This record gives sequence, C-alpha cells and structure tokens, in this order.
Amino acid sequence: MNLILLGPPGAGKGTQAKLIEEKRGLKQLSTGDMLRGAVAQGTEMGKKAKAVMDRGELVSDDIVVSIIAERLDKPDVKKGFILDGFPRNQAQAEALDRMLDDKGLKLDAVIEMKVDDEALVERIAGRYTCAKCGKGYHDRFEKPKKAGVCDVCGSTEFVRRADDNEKTVRDRLQIYNKQTAPLVDYYGRTGVLHKVNGMADIAQVTRQIEDVLGRS
Ligand code: AP5
Ligand code: MG
Ligand code: ZN
Repeated sequence: MNLILLGPPGAGKGTQAKLIEEKRGLKQLSTGDMLRGAVAQGTEMGKKAKAVMDRGELVSDDIVVSIIAERLDKPDVKKGFILDGFPRNQAQAEALDRMLDDKGLKLDAVIEMKVDDEALVERIAGRYTCAKCGKGYHDRFEKPKKAGVCDVCGSTEFVRRADDNEKTVRDRLQIYNKQTAPLVDYYGRTGVLHKVNGMADIAQVTRQIEDVLGRS
C-alpha cells in the first residue's frame, strides 16, 4: 500500500507516519528528514539545502525529486511507502506521477490532515525529538513517560529543529497555503483523496487513518 500524508507543518505527518510504519510495515519517506540528514552529514546537497530550510522556503524540485526517485528504487519500499512532506507543489506531484508510472506503482490513498493555524504554531514551538532514535515528543502533548529519558531507546539527549521558531513556522504556513494546499484539488480529481480531522488527539487521528486504510 502506497500513501501520501498531506498537511501543513505541525499537522502530525511525521507522528502518524511512524505509527503506520510500525503497525503496517510500510516505509516512511520524509523528504524533510532526509534533507536534515544531508545537512547533518555536511554533504554538498546538505550545504545547499540548509539556508533554504532555515528560512522555511522550499528546496529545489530537482533535489527533492531525485531524492525520492532514488529512494523508490530501494528494496525496503517493496511492501509500500508513506510519503511525508512530498510532493509539495504541482511540479513535484507531476514528477511523482511519472515516477510511479515508470515503476508500475500506484497511490492507494492521499490523506489530508486538517489542523487550525494557531494549533500548528503551538505544536511546532513545543516539539523536540530524541537525538539518538528520532522519536518525536512535545512539551505538552507527548511527553516521555520518564522525564528526560526517551521511551524508545533510553537516550537522554534531545534536539529541536532550527526551523521550529514562530517566525519561520508562519512563513512555512504561508508557503504551504500557496504552493502545497492546491494539491488537495489535484488529488481530489483522482479519487484517492481522504480527509482526517488532525485537531483530534494523536490516537484518534491514528484511528481515523486506519479507517481510511481499511477502506482503500
Ligand atoms: P518537513 O520536515 O517536511 O516539515 P513540515 O512539512 O514543515 O512538517 P513538520 O515536520 O514540521 O510537521 P509534521 O506534520 O511532521 O508534524 P509532527 O508529526 O512532527 O520540511 C522541513 C523543510 O524541509 C521545509 O520547510 C523545506 O525547506 C524542506 N523540504 C522538505 N520536503 C520538501 C519538499 N518536498 N520540497 C521542497 N522542500 C522540502 O508533529 C508536530 C508536533 O505536534 C510534535 O511535537 C507532535 O508530538 C505533536 N503532535 C502531533 N500530532 C498531534 C496531535 N494530534 N495532537 C497534539 N499534538 C500533536
Ligand atoms: Mg515532519
Ligand atoms: Zn530515542
């Protein structure tokens, strides 16, 4: 099964992608995580991407399309994949259609996660992740069971993203509304689009997504 999670910054794409990955064995493909990996490793691509990401703007289509094209050829996506943060504009959506056609693959569902702007800013401002395993947390909504210790791997080191400040979040939201939100209509025409209420708590959002997947 191949999915897209479509939603603004802080909608819960990464949170839900990890839960579906665990439950269904599908592979999460987050272009944001891959780009942050390239920045951390100091690769040429990472150097190009860092300033753009810190401003909350979109990295060039050529870069992200080639990252995804490469990723879709790896054996670990054979059981299916969850695209998280890709595609982000019409050109990327069209490039994805061509890639899937070439590889004989199809999309089973595009899930739009709807969340109010003010809630998004609050979610992002409180977000942090385990430095070792990448498990996501939130100061208020998703605390580790034992304060300061990761539930999954026991690490005590956590990190916050460079683009997770209020100013950049608002810029990212504007870009989302202008460039990414039109993809709702794009996928609406293909009959695979489903909407979930992303304002519900994490477990309830998972249940809504499971309902959709059960029907897809
Ligand atoms: P990317 O990494 O994709 O960031 P984003 O789209 O801005 O989305 P986020 O990761 O911020 O949010 P999320 O929806 O994953 O929310 P999360 O689950 O963490 O992109 C970053 C940058 O990379 C871009 O700005 C761009 O520069 C570049 N980039 C990436 N892809 C690109 C592309 N295709 N083309 C061009 N450039 C690209 O949840 C947020 C917080 O809320 C967490 O703390 C979580 O615990 C909490 N939370 C989650 N769900 C709930 C809930 N239901 N209730 C309460 N709290 C919740
Ligand atoms: Mg994310
Ligand atoms: Zn951890």
